[in-house]
Order: sequence, then C-alpha cells, then structure tokens
Amino acid sequence: MSDQTLDPFDVGRMIPDFVAPPLTHLGLDRATIDAADVNTRQWTSHVDGPITPGSEVHLREVCRMFRETFNPYRPSVLDWPTLEPDTLHRIVSLPIWDIAVQTEGKARLRMAAYAATLSEPDMRSALALNAWEENRHKEVLSRMVAAYRIALAKEAPYVHPADTEWAYLVTGFSECIDSFFAFGLFELAHRSRLFPPELIDTFEPVMQEECRHILLFANWLAWHRARLSRWRRLVFELKVAAVWLFLGWERIGLARSFDADGNEQTQDNNFTVNGAQAVSGAKIDVRELMTLCLQENDRRFCGYDARLLRPQTMPKLVRVALRFMRKKKGS
Ligand SMILES: [Fe+2]
Ligand SMILES: [Fe+2]
Repeated sequence: MSDQTLDPFDVGRMIPDFVAPPLTHLGLDRATIDAADVNTRQWTSHVDGPITPGSEVHLREVCRMFRETFNPYRPSVLDWPTLEPDTLHRIVSLPIWDIAVQTEGKARLRMAAYAATLSEPDMRSALALNAWEENRHKEVLSRMVAAYRIALAKEAPYVHPADTEWAYLVTGFSECIDSFFAFGLFELAHRSRLFPPELIDTFEPVMQEECRHILLFANWLAWHRARLSRWRRLVFELKVAAVWLFLGWERIGLARSFDADGNEQTQDNNFTVNGAQAVSGAKIDVRELMTLCLQENDRRFCGYDARLLRPQTMPKLVRVALRFMRKKKGS
C-alpha cells in the first residue's frame, strides 16, 4: 500500500499548535521495539504525595504520562506475516473490520474536534496526540486490510460533530466499554495459538495504546468535572447519563448506520461472545471470558502510577455480574 492511498487526516489542520511526534528512530530492531514497549506500559510520576484529581498537579502529570508513554512505532514497517489458508479465512471472516476502521475514523475526528475547543494547552496537546494515535490505528488497520485483501464497505464521510463535548464523551465511554472486552478477546486469541505470534505482536501496541487512551479519558473526566461550577456540573452529569443511555441503545442494536453507498450496516451486537468463539476456536463460558477481561484489564493498567484514576464502570459492572453468575450456579 502506498502512502498516497492513505486517508489524509491531519490533526495539525484542526489544532495549529500540534506537532506530530517523530517516528524515525524506531526501525525493525527487536531491542528498540522491546524498549519502546516497556516504556509505553509503565509510568510513575516523580511527584511525592497524593495527586488530587482535578488539581494542577493532576493535569500536569496526566498529560506528562500520556506524552512520555508514547510508542513511536511506524505502521509502514509493521509485519504482516503470510497466513495459512484457514487462519486467513478466520481473520477475513471476523465481522469487525468495517466497524473497526470506521470507529477509528470517527474517534480521530471527534477527539481532534474536542481538543481544538480546549484553551488549556497541556490537555489540548494530550487529546490532539490521542486523535493522532487514532489516525495511526486506522492506518494500521488499512494496511492489514490491504495485506490480507479484506473487502470493506465504502466509508461514509466523517462529519465534524456539532456538539464536540457530546461526541468526545460518546467516543471516550465507547472506548472504555470496547477496550475492556477487546483486552480479554485479544488474550484469548493469543492463548488459542490460532493466529501467528507475529500478528499478535503487530497488534499489541494498538491494544496497549487503547489502555492509555482510556486512562487519559478517565483522568480528563475527573479534571473536567473538578473545573465546573455546581450548576454546570449538574448539566454535565445529565449529559454523561444521556451518553450512557445512548451507548446502551446503540449496543442493543437499535442504532442504524449506513455506508457511503447508503447500504445499512449491520453490526454483531453479541460480538464479545461470538467473537470469543471466533478467536479461540472453541465455545467459551461467559463467566470465564468476563474473568479474563477483568484480569487483562488489571494487567494492562498495573504499570501506570496508581494515583492516576482508572475507568471504573465496566470493571465494576462485570464484577457485579460475576457475583450474580456465581450465585446462580451454586443455587
Ligand atoms: Fe483506536
Ligand atoms: Fe483509542
């Protein structure tokens, strides 16, 4: 795939002071890649004492974490191993590629659009980098789709959101939900040995990046809340509740989306369970899968300073559901 055929999204056009991070020093040398991998998943602030959510120190350290854990991998040098015919068939038939590419396309625009409204330079720059990374995810997917000749629906144009805060909240909370399950499914795919380890390695930085993204989102949320007056905070919490309702509505399959040709796009709303089967080649018990998602969630976050906030909703909901499932089994 030539660089000219890639979608020319440019964060710098929306946020004039954004400077794209350099990628030049990371080639294919294993030791350099491993060092970048360690750097991206571990970070501790040098600040002593507590980091109060919403404080100046919190703002500074969250943004520093995001900058300093950046992984400079270059999508154009990623390895796309030749696959056995059945592995290739398994990958090509996963019903996720259209939605994955479009989700990254929407996320980059929504994050950049919201970042552009922020007057605080550190947070604006962190969110702009997040948007840039979503664009890089899209590029990784585009290269994979081209390498394995996966047919995609034509993408509908990405439209600048009218309410940038709403769009950012929808994207941020969606990532919190999707990443939680993706962490478990990715580990399941890894353990199944149905996919070559090189392919798992290629996607590993993308997975960890999603962990950093939702870590940033959880801390942005706390910082943003702390800055609101009582009245604006109330309005904001209503908006957050509406976002969760919208995401529930979307995920139970009521939302419809269309491709560029006006065809309705169907998405598999039970993908976590069906996808577990697809990536592991076996039927997976829902309780085992949820336990794995929780373990992977904890593992991916454990290297970051414990004083930074983590996304809470999905792990809490799943822990409650697991308790209920156990009771049901024993009764
Ligand atoms: Fe992404
Ligand atoms: Fe992300």
